[in-house]
Amino acid sequence: MADYDLTKTHIKHLDEPKHEIALSTEKLNVYYGEKHAMHDASLQFERYRITALIGASGSGKSTYLRSLNRMNDNIANTRVTGKIMYRGLNINSDEVDVYKMREHIGMVFQRPNPFAKSIYDNITFALKQHGQKDKKYLDEVVETTLKQAALWDQVKDSLGKSALALSGGQQQRLCIARAIAMKPDILLLDEPASALDPISTNTVEETLIRLKEEFTIVIVTHNMQQAARISDYTAFFHSGHALEFDETRKMFTRPKIKAAEDYVSGHFG
Ligand SMILES: Nc1ncnc2c1ncn2[C@@H]1O[C@H](COP(=O)(O)OP(=O)(O)OP(=O)(O)O)[C@@H](O)[C@H]1O
Ligand SMILES: [Mg+2]
Repeated sequence: MADYDLTKTHIKHLDEPKHEIALSTEKLNVYYGEKHAMHDASLQFERYRITALIGASGSGKSTYLRSLNRMNDNIANTRVTGKIMYRGLNINSDEVDVYKMREHIGMVFQRPNPFAKSIYDNITFALKQHGQKDKKYLDEVVETTLKQAALWDQVKDSLGKSALALSGGQQQRLCIARAIAMKPDILLLDEPASALDPISTNTVEETLIRLKEEFTIVIVTHNMQQAARISDYTAFFHSGHALEFDETRKMFTRPKIKAAEDYVSGHFG
């Protein structure tokens, strides 16, 4: 991705990706109508690292994650305040071209959402939209990303089949392949492995660990073992607050806050 100008007004002097912090939020608040679902969340995500977002159901993990590439914009009556800083630019601003920004900050959702197209077209759709016509290149992207998402062996002989005919777990891996095909700078994943069997989960985890050489990853997970296995940093969410943030090994051995200790010990060990 060479084009880092995300603004409609073509501001050219954005920071180069030399900083340790790839993405951060400052006092991020989310309101669904009257409901204040996220309170002053200030977190920083280090480049080429995996950060896990953990916490009980309803604590605001998806709300926070969705805000990071403005997916909450699509939900009616939702208001997001505070800053989301990416390459020196506050992307929580009307100045930002949201579609362009999402080429840099990609997302895999909690529920798989493949397009009603073939497996092949799901992966190549966005690339074609961006003018990529080289069949050999597209074939290569399809094979590489499906391998990375641990789906290639199961679908290599049926790439023309509808993605909707895949199982839920296969659809989720296809969505991971689709997201990586765009080579985003930052990859947001909301429980990408919750519908997968242990072997596929393992492969996807290995993929994410490999991908952090290229991408900065933020992942929501309910699985503490998974967070411990793959993440470098962990943020603990509780009742709409990002309550604690630390290196993963510290979060799992000596959390500072009682709520984090209770959550982690209840789900781990
Ligand atoms: N579109 C919405 N409209 C209104 N309230 C919402 C909406 N989405 C989430 N909420 C509320 O915001 C709070 C946080 O929800 P969120 O989905 O972010 O939690 P979560 O931590 O991702 O939970 P889970 O682990 O179950 O996925 C919950 O109280 C939820 O009911
Ligand atoms: Mg969620």
